[in-house]
This record gives sequence, C-alpha cells and structure tokens, in this order.
Amino acid sequence: MKKVRKAVYPAAGLGTRFLPATKSIPKEMLPLVDKPLIQYVIEEAIESSIEQIILVTGRGKQTIEDHFDISFELEQALQERGKHETLAQLRKVYEHVKLSYVRQRQALGLGHAVLVSRDMVGDEPFAVMLPDDIIDAETPCLKQMMEVYETYQSPVIGVAEIDGPDISKFGVVSVEQIDEKVYKIKDMVEKPPYEQAPSNLAIIGRYILTPDLFPVLESTGRGTGGEIQLTDAMRQLLKSKPFYACKFEGRRHDGGDKLGFLIATVELALKRRDLGPPLRSYLKSLKL
Ligand code: G1P
Repeated sequence: MKKVRKAVYPAAGLGTRFLPATKSIPKEMLPLVDKPLIQYVIEEAIESSIEQIILVTGRGKQTIEDHFDISFELEQALQERGKHETLAQLRKVYEHVKLSYVRQRQALGLGHAVLVSRDMVGDEPFAVMLPDDIIDAETPCLKQMMEVYETYQSPVIGVAEIDGPDISKFGVVSVEQIDEKVYKIKDMVEKPPYEQAPSNLAIIGRYILTPDLFPVLESTGRGTGGEIQLTDAMRQLLKSKPFYACKFEGRRHDGGDKLGFLIATVELALKRRDLGPPLRSYLKSLKL
C-alpha cells in the first residue's frame, strides 16, 4: 500500500466573508493569536508525517509563499540577538516539509482546486486539508484518519456532528457505523437544505483520497452554488469504491467565520502558558 505523503491545500478563495480585512491580505494569513491560520493546518500535516505540501493559490496570495520562505535578514537579526526560540518557530515549517505552489486561475470551486493539483500529486494517495478548519486535537486529526486509511485502504473523510440548521452549510454523509469512530459511507450530498440532510454528520475539511478521483473530477459538472464540488466527484466514485468517514476526536473551529474565528482566538489563547492566565482573569473581570 502506498503511503500518504502529500497534502493539498486549496487556498485560492477570495475570503469575502472577512472583508475588508482580506482585501490585500489572504484570509489564510489572518493570525489566530500569533500564527497564521494556514500554519496551524500545515503543522497538523507535519505532525501526521506528511512530506510534501501542495498549495493551490491564486492572485494576491504571494504573502503565503513569503511566509514559508527563508527571510535571511530577519533570521540573522534574531540569531545575533540570541532569540533562538523565535527563530526555531520561524523555521519550523520549511525545515520539515517540502512546499510547492500551483495556481488555480479561475475560482471554479473546491473540486476544481483539487483537480489543479493533479500533476503534482501524481499516482498516489493524498490528503486534502482546508485551511479554514482548525482542529485542536491531542492526536492530530489527519493522523487519526491515516490510521483508518491504513486499516481500510480506501478514501477517508473527516466528519463531525453538527446539530440544527447549520448542517446545510456542509457536505453531509449518510452512513453505517462499523467501529467506534468509523463509518462506511452510503451516500453524500453537498449543502442540503436542513430538512433534507441525511444525517447530522458533516464533512469537515480533512480528506484522504486516491488518485482515481482525478478523472472523475475532470468530468464533474457544476453543482451547488454553480461550483465544481469535491463532494459531487466523491459521490460519483463512491459507486465503484468504498469510502469511510472518521469521526475524529478534537475540537473543530471554523476559522473562515467571524464568530468562529473569535472563539478560536479565545480558546487557543487560553491554552497558552504566557497568555492563558492574564486572559482568563481579564475575561472573569468582564461584567457580562
Ligand atoms: C467545503 C466543502 C463541504 C465541507 C466544508 C467543510 O465547503 O464543499 O462539503 O463540508 O468545506 O468546511 P465550503 O465551506 O468551502 O463552502
């Protein structure tokens, strides 16, 4: 069985939910506490033994490339000042993983973004990780999913329970439970109306996929929202291949949503040794 070595990051979106902040700053670069959103998700991949990151970017996203590149002057200055810990933080990503970039010239949807990575992925299984979804977990979410992939040797999708009308903001699966946190997928649908959702299990932005999805993506037409949907292509491949859902352990934050972003900021800061105690006492002092 081929190992999952590569992870694809669709990062070409316009970030309209965060305007005006994202007019000239990619939404993936917005900081949660002191680290860009995308770095959390790349560190999750590194901790899950991914060796190569493929970033699907677009116009106006150059700062992502700069962020993960060597900044000689800055690194030299930190070295001279003895700021070794900060230096190690800066080098963390580029020392541990190879980064490649490919452009999605037109914003035709998530399925299309994944298709753009085809040549770089080649003929091997790969992960897709959406930088909006921040998953705070003891065992990295992708690592949990890799274990499921190794057992069943077929595609695995990360899912979480979403109760109430919010389910219609997600891809939704219908399933048959086969293990404590593993389900065999029977069907899936992209953003169904609340009343028609087949379950409360929502697709979260973590996927382990196989290269036979690419030819299917190529012939997938526009779906929900007029976009080429990854869910539609997976649904097509499901007819000839089993798909599994992994209900991962961990707390998921929606970093692409203003309230989700605020909640993530507070929760992640509270966990920090330097910021947690003063933030906690500040929050307690608020007369809410
Ligand atoms: C995408 C997928 C959807 C999934 C969601 C998870 O939607 O199309 O199936 O549930 O990510 O975050 P988006 O949020 O990009 O509209």
